Amino acid sequence: MENFTYYIPTKILFGKNQTEKLGKEISSYGKKVLFLYGKNSIKKNGVYDDVVNSLAAHNISFVELSGVDPNPRIETVKRGAELCREHNLDLVLAVGGGSTIDCAKAIAAQAKYDGDVWQDLYVDKKLNKLTSALPVATVLTLAATGSEMNGNSVISNPETDKKLSISSNLLRPVVSVLDPTYTFSVNKYQTAAGAVDIISHLFEQYFSPDKNGYLQSRLIESLLKTVIHFAPKAYEFPEDYEARANIMWAGSLALNGLPSYGKVSTDWATHGIEHELSAKYDITHGVGLGILTPYWMEYVLSPENVHRFVDYGKAVWKIPGTDAMDVARKSIEITREFFSSLGIPETLSEVGIDSSKLVEMAESATVYGPLGTMKKLQKEDVLEILRKAL
Ligand code: NZQ
Ligand code: ZN
Repeated sequence: MENFTYYIPTKILFGKNQTEKLGKEISSYGKKVLFLYGKNSIKKNGVYDDVVNSLAAHNISFVELSGVDPNPRIETVKRGAELCREHNLDLVLAVGGGSTIDCAKAIAAQAKYDGDVWQDLYVDKKLNKLTSALPVATVLTLAATGSEMNGNSVISNPETDKKLSISSNLLRPVVSVLDPTYTFSVNKYQTAAGAVDIISHLFEQYFSPDKNGYLQSRLIESLLKTVIHFAPKAYEFPEDYEARANIMWAGSLALNGLPSYGKVSTDWATHGIEHELSAKYDITHGVGLGILTPYWMEYVLSPENVHRFVDYGKAVWKIPGTDAMDVARKSIEITREFFSSLGIPETLSEVGIDSSKLVEMAESATVYGPLGTMKKLQKEDVLEILRKAL
């Protein structure tokens, strides 16, 4: 096992009615916050009122910024940072899914940063320039990204058609409320996309060509089995508390760092390619991943890395057989069928993507170097995967 530093400082308040404790938690960071959310969902399902009541109970005032888009935009980040400076706010409170939380982190960074975070951090990757940020708190309403427990932020710039990510421990939320009942109102489409995103985060850390990481692989298989067991239930019965709770906690654990601590390598190629799809076509992240993943698996599978597919197929799907390549191919097919059972399309054309921007996307996906480790994907490889997925 490789050396690692465990650092997951986010305090998690998990379960029903936990928002009641939010005001008290936030009061140790200040008395004035930016209350950031998306469109209407939190007003419809009552989460907005729960948050306002909890803040009021601890005399915390807030400035509201709503309208964060799925695939959040840099212009919202700038607006949020201006509000933080203008009103001298102490903390950014994100109430929503990954988009709202990612946007909150970017705001928290920009509020304390003299330069332009988009150019310096997201584009130029000079993360060492970020030396402080406002604290971020979250109330999660959609199980998917793990943003509630990690330091990642993914932001889009429609002017340049770029969607780029950063990761910094300074941006890990100080506290996150995870109330599974808040996800009862998530529709089938977003429930499926969220589950696929969680599964993809697990795949990205599971699939690596080395043979190490025994404990990490077993942890990941447990999380995969949990999501695969409960996603169809949440999809059919949106108010199944156990299903929503298991998926929510699995989503946070999948991308808080824990599954890959000590691993020699991880992959992340599918995410790299998907971010191009979202950047150019504004499609839902989990849907893009669901389409690409089986094609990526077929493309990278080789005698050198087949052991990972065999482990996956046998542990997660109980695929019988002794021919490694056969088990691997069956595990890929069953993955595709599982995504389809959740209504995820199987091709890019089904979500309105044609061949016109494939070269541009392949180029842009590899602009910082080749993607992945299962097979190092150059521009031509990415293009081939995109072509197969059409
Ligand atoms: O805008 P509102 O009204 O909130 O509606 C949202 C939005 O339309 C809705 N929604 C959220 N909670 C709901 C709800 N609808 C009904 N009931 C609720 N309780 O769902 C829609 C999608 O929300 P969004 O936040 O965009 O979804 P998600 O959580 O999947 O976040 C996706 C974004 O996160 C990035 C993605 O690239 C994408 O931009 N990612 C962030 C990561 C991270 N920070 O670690 C890692 C991921 O790999 C990913 O890249
Ligand atoms: Zn993801």
